[in-house]
Amino acid sequence: MTQEMESGDIGLIGLGVMGLNLAQNISEKGFSVIGHDLSSSTAFTKTFLDYCWNLRDFIKKLKKPRKIMLLLPAGQAVQDTIDALLPYLEPNDLIVDAGNSHFEDTLRRYKALETQNINFFGLGISGGEAGARNGASLMGAGDPNVFESIKPILEAVAARDEHNNICALRLGNSPEVGHFVKMVHNSIEYAEMQLISETYSLFSETKDYSNEKISDVLANWRDDLEGSFLLEATSQVLKKTDEVTGTPLIDMIEDIAEQKGTGKWGTVSAINIGVAAPTLYEAVSSRFISQYKTDRLAASKIYSPKVSKSTLISQNSIKGAFSAAKICAFAQGFQLMAIANLEYSWDLKLREVAQVWKAGCILRGNILDEIVKAFDRNTSLSNLLLDSGLSKKLKNSVELLRLVVSEGALCGLPLAAHTSSLSYFDTYTKARLPINLVQAQRDFFGSHGYRRIDKRGTFHSTWEN
Ligand code: 6PG
Repeated sequence: MTQEMESGDIGLIGLGVMGLNLAQNISEKGFSVIGHDLSSSTAFTKTFLDYCWNLRDFIKKLKKPRKIMLLLPAGQAVQDTIDALLPYLEPNDLIVDAGNSHFEDTLRRYKALETQNINFFGLGISGGEAGARNGASLMGAGDPNVFESIKPILEAVAARDEHNNICALRLGNSPEVGHFVKMVHNSIEYAEMQLISETYSLFSETKDYSNEKISDVLANWRDDLEGSFLLEATSQVLKKTDEVTGTPLIDMIEDIAEQKGTGKWGTVSAINIGVAAPTLYEAVSSRFISQYKTDRLAASKIYSPKVSKSTLISQNSIKGAFSAAKICAFAQGFQLMAIANLEYSWDLKLREVAQVWKAGCILRGNILDEIVKAFDRNTSLSNLLLDSGLSKKLKNSVELLRLVVSEGALCGLPLAAHTSSLSYFDTYTKARLPINLVQAQRDFFGSHGYRRIDKRGTFHSTWEN
């Protein structure tokens, strides 16, 4: 084999929008990238990429031990590609799965490949097209030596925060941790998006603000705790005019939300390990309910719901409500990672998660500075609501959340994510819950037993007279 044949520092399979942008980013940083894709778009050949249609030739072009990154839709495509690669690989070659794979699949694939001495590294990537092109947030985990071998490439294409910290980290020992963290990132992403869409409805439906005016208000929150990439993106979305009709484009978009599934996986994982994450769940559920358009239209004819205007709800209260609800959503996501860390013994450092999300990713925003500080104060913080800094901010805003949720309900406005954040807060902070009654009921009909407040042990009573 000639030197020329083995020229590639890294091979990239999956040349969709993310793959092509990442390939361009990697090659601009001085690494030679060989591309491969199942589809044969001529667009690839017009790019900077050294491209191989044939998998065998693609492999031959890579320096040994080979590094191959997959940027593929989660599921069968990843498995099929690994299976297709295997006959050509040699011990110590490395496959990096940089898609949104389910963390359990990542662990299973790691174990299967380990038996053949092929390295497998799960890498969560966030930042969409712009992140892939200009600097993404990269969430890795697994063998430190494997991480070291690809670190120069990952660090070169990662985003950097305002202190020049590189947002590419190895977050834990176990290979599935990076994809778990990315999944939780997406669950919080869904929640923040839902909270922002409810904020938009509060302004437009209870205050009659125009899209333009809402856009300006959101832009003004930039420097406060609420400020984030998603808020900034929303502000720009609300200003966009539809080229066909000349009206705001947002008003022309069908109210049916889709999803690829990562946000749903996060809430399923939360349930599996017993973590309360109602805001994360409501964000998924709101996308589900949006899909029942025919039913919604039929129901709206039966019930004729009307949203009334409100003078009680102000710009300031909407802002405070959003802030409190957002802290609660992040608290649920971080608690999900904290409990998973205990459950699976991952050695996951939550401060580093917050740090790696500070730039490049979809969740980037001012709240992450506060979360980093919270873990600086207490590395083993179990819930952000217990942190002195965030609890101070929450105490200042939660009454506004209460006002907005209650007034919103009276006005007839659905505020699923705000409402669930408030319930989460009220339940989490209540020293005694009415769940004693649930325990009594369980014992009444199923003799399941209950614990008493005054003595140790499990008790059972005969309840019926
Ligand atoms: C990111 C995003 C990205 C995600 C899309 C689509 O961090 O860059 O989370 O990975 O896949 O946002 O997600 P849905 O189609 O599920 O909304």
